[in-house]
Amino acid sequence: MPHPFPIINAQEAAALIHHGNTVAFGGFTPSGSPKDIPTAIAGRAMAEHAAGRPFQIGVITGASTGASLDGALAKAEAISFRTPYQSDPDLRRAINAGKTRFFDLHLSQLPQHVRTGALGPIHWTVLEACDITADGRVVLTSGVGAAPTFARCGERILIELNQRHPASLCGIHDIYEPIDPPYRGEIPLYNVSDRIGQPWLQLDPAKIAGVVLTNREDEIGAFAEPDAVTTKIGENVADFLAAELRAGRIPPEFLPLQSGVGDIANAVLGALGAHPEIPRFTMYSEVLQDATLALLRSGKLKFASGCSLTLSPPAMRSLYEDLSALRGRIVLRPQEITNNPEIVRRIGIISVNTAIEADLQGNINSTHLFGKTMMNGIGGSGDFTRNAHLSIFTCPSLQKSGKISTIVPQVTHTDHSEHSVQVIVTEHGVADLRRLDPFQRAELIIERCAHPDFRADLRRYLALSRDGHEPFNFDYAFAFHQRFNKTGDMRGVVWPG
Ligand code: COA
Repeated sequence: MPHPFPIINAQEAAALIHHGNTVAFGGFTPSGSPKDIPTAIAGRAMAEHAAGRPFQIGVITGASTGASLDGALAKAEAISFRTPYQSDPDLRRAINAGKTRFFDLHLSQLPQHVRTGALGPIHWTVLEACDITADGRVVLTSGVGAAPTFARCGERILIELNQRHPASLCGIHDIYEPIDPPYRGEIPLYNVSDRIGQPWLQLDPAKIAGVVLTNREDEIGAFAEPDAVTTKIGENVADFLAAELRAGRIPPEFLPLQSGVGDIANAVLGALGAHPEIPRFTMYSEVLQDATLALLRSGKLKFASGCSLTLSPPAMRSLYEDLSALRGRIVLRPQEITNNPEIVRRIGIISVNTAIEADLQGNINSTHLFGKTMMNGIGGSGDFTRNAHLSIFTCPSLQKSGKISTIVPQVTHTDHSEHSVQVIVTEHGVADLRRLDPFQRAELIIERCAHPDFRADLRRYLALSRDGHEPFNFDYAFAFHQRFNKTGDMRGVVWPG
C-alpha cells in the first residue's frame, strides 16, 4: 500500500525550516545523508541573505556528510553550529575562520546527548529512506548514523525517499536504541553478527511533514590506489598482527577488526586480505568501504558490521547487483551500537586508525594541525581506541614533501593519550609500546617509526628530556613546530650548546 504522506519538493521542504532551527540529518558519511533538502535549504539561505535577512540553522549529523549537505550549507554561510564530525573543505574553512561554531564529540555519545537535551531541541529531522509504510516504518539506505534518535527526538520529520536504493535493502539494518541510565541493562550483542533490533526504524507517522522523492547516488569519491607508503604501512600492520597470532596474544580465530576510513585503511584491509597467516576474520567497524566489499567477496572477510556502506558509486552499484549473495554477511547499525564502548571491550576489537601526528610519549593527535586548525574531528577513533583489545595508530612518517615529521617531540593537541595507544605504525616499522616505560617507548618510536631525516633531532630532544618519568622538555617540546612556523620546514632545529 502506498504511504499517505504528502509528496512535496525540496524547496517546499526547505520553506518549512526557519532561521534559528536546529536540524538533525540522518546518514553516516555521505552514505545515507539527505541531499536535495539540505541543498534547497542552502538556496533558501542565499535568497534570505540577498534580501538582507539572517538565515542560519544548527546542524547535527551522524558524522561527515556529502557536498550537497555540509558543502552546500557551508558555501551558503547557513550553518550556525555544527557537531559532531565533518570533512568538507568549505565547512572546515568556515569553522577555522570562526564563522561556524563546531564542537567535536565522540560519535558513540552523540545520541545520548540528543536524548538528554544537552544539544538543545531538534526542530527538524531529515532522513533518507528507501521505503516507508503508512504506520511509520522507515527502511533507511546506506548509512544509519543517529537516525533512530533523531527520529524520536525531532519535533517534525522530513523524508527523502531515494529511489536509487532498492527497497530490498530491508533486512540489512539492525535498529536498536538503548534505554537511558539509570535503567539501561547490558546491550545484548555478543557476536559481530548478532541482530538485536528491528530491520526498520519505527517513527511516529504524525510527525512526518512531507516526503521528497529523490534519485541520487551517495557522494563518495574514489579511493586512491595504494602507493608505496600506504602499501608498506598496510604490510607492517598485517605482519605485526600475524606475529601477535603466532605469539598467542591474538586467539587463533582472530578478533574483530575496526578500521578507520581513507587510503591507509584501504591499504591495511588489502594487506590483511593478502596475508597468508591472517585467518578469515570479521569486522566490527564504523565505515565499510570498497576494500571491505572486496574482502567479503573473496571470502577472507566472514562478516561485516558497520554504520554505513561508504562505497564509491561503482562499488555500490556492484553490491546491488549481488545483494542477495552478500546480504546475510552485512549488518548496518546505529553509531551508538557500532561504537559502543561496552561492546568494543566485550568482543575484543583490534582498532586501526590514522593519526595526524604522534609524540615520543605515545600520545596521538587525530584532529588539529599545529594545535589550532581543525581537520575533521575525533570521529569514532576515541570510542574504539580507548576500549580496544589492541589499539593501533598508523600514519606516514612525513607530510608536505618531507618538511613535516609526523613523529614529533610533543603533539600539539592530544586526542588519544599514551594510556590508550598501544601500537604505532609508519612505513618504516612498528613500535609496540606495551610493557615499555616512557623512555623505552620514546626510543622505540624514534628507531622504528620516525623518518631517518628526523631521527637525529628526535634523539637530541630525548637527550634534553632525560630527567623525571616522562620525556618532556618545557623549552623544546614544540621545537619542531616552531621551526616549521619560522622556516616552512621542521628540519634544522637549533639545539642548545
Ligand atoms: N602536519 C601538517 N599537515 C598534516 C599533518 C601534519 N602532521 N598530517 C596530515 N596533514 C595534512 C596532509 O598533508 C593533508 O593536506 P592536504 O589536504 O593539503 O594534502 C591533510 O592533512 C590530510 O592528510 P592525509 O594524510 O591525506 O589524511 P587522511 O585522509 O589519511 O586522514 C586524518 C587522516 C587523521 C585526518 C583522518 O583519519 C581523521 O580525520 N581521523 C580522525 C577520525 C578517525 O580516526 N576516524 C576513523 C575512526 S572510526
